[in-house]
Amino acid sequence: MDAVEVVGGGRASLAPGTPLLEVEDLHVEFHTRDGVAKAVNGVSYAVSAGETLAVLGESGSGKSVTAQAIMGILDMPPGRITAGRVLFRGEDLLTMSANARRAVRGRRIAMIFQDALSALNPVLSVGYQLGEMFRVHHGVTRKEAREKAVELMERVRIPAARQRVGDFPHQFSGGMRQRIMIAMALSLEPDLIIADEPTTALDVTVQAQVMDLLAELQAEFNMGLILITHDLGVVADVADKIAVMYAGRIVETAPVHELYARPAHPYTRGLLDSIPRLDQKGQDLHAIKGLPPNLLRIPEGCAFNPRCERARDRCLAELPSLVPVVGEHGEELVGRRSACHYWHETLHG
Ligand SMILES: Nc1ncnc2c1ncn2[C@@H]1O[C@H](COP(=O)(O)OP(=O)(O)O)[C@@H](O)[C@H]1O
Ligand SMILES: [Mg+2]
Repeated sequence: MDAVEVVGGGRASLAPGTPLLEVEDLHVEFHTRDGVAKAVNGVSYAVSAGETLAVLGESGSGKSVTAQAIMGILDMPPGRITAGRVLFRGEDLLTMSANARRAVRGRRIAMIFQDALSALNPVLSVGYQLGEMFRVHHGVTRKEAREKAVELMERVRIPAARQRVGDFPHQFSGGMRQRIMIAMALSLEPDLIIADEPTTALDVTVQAQVMDLLAELQAEFNMGLILITHDLGVVADVADKIAVMYAGRIVETAPVHELYARPAHPYTRGLLDSIPRLDQKGQDLHAIKGLPPNLLRIPEGCAFNPRCERARDRCLAELPSLVPVVGEHGEELVGRRSACHYWHETLHG
């Protein structure tokens, strides 16, 4: 794709299913005083126009570092990308020219973070910040930019947008601030949005509203969406497919409803068992025992083995690769993979 066209062209309408982002075998490590922390150890995932991928895993599993590598906002040093490709519409962001890269990151791909308050400038009105984003990228007048800011605020359903366009970030609730972050991302008319724990700081009811809004806009604009979360409950209704991460690797992928119904990895099983369920009020949550591994010393074999009730000799010795899983009668299960030697026991057991 021509970089100049990308800068000036605005958002081309892509056919649903057009591949947008393909991360291939990404490796990221951090060189610290204590040693090398292997944060991302061969992650591959892909998302197409009109598709939502949820990336799920406990804190420290490498979800954000993967996103930072995609966006080019990794702390380097101490971070280092040691292998892999990040293809955006077929071109590798890691090797393309700096100009071409800038045209993609932050324009064709927008990012939304957990903490809107620190992402917004506290001393500028939200209308100014929204308009400025648009003014810089589209070269409109200040008056037009302000009008656009009101329009964007209405788009993300901020009540009384026209009256509130001059308000400052701290005058909005957490949920409203996160809507403003979504509006910021939309102002670029991106092909892909990466949302890193976008609702984690919010109350449960507000979480659902913000998530629904994001899903609605994603569908309306036929964008790709990567939703990073440690909470499967929040993304289950909006994601198409899920990649589960553990210790910097993907341990399971599946269409979202299939993952829910029948996980194929003991770690996913554990995550599902720790979601509070309305129909099991009062019952204990089965949080997964133990802690995620120290990334300076990831266990031999399967990284999950110290916490796995099913672990046996092979799990201590041999790193499982992410293989296709099949149904009880050998039938193909589209999009389903597991990195457990004994996936069939979890899937069919
Ligand atoms: N700036 C950094 N310096 C050193 N190590 C880091 C840095 N950022 C991330 N890491 C390491 O990478 C691991 C994965 O981090 P992250 O991707 O943020 O996890 P999460 O899945 O919670 O988003 C961390 O546990 C940490 O060991
Ligand atoms: Mg994170």
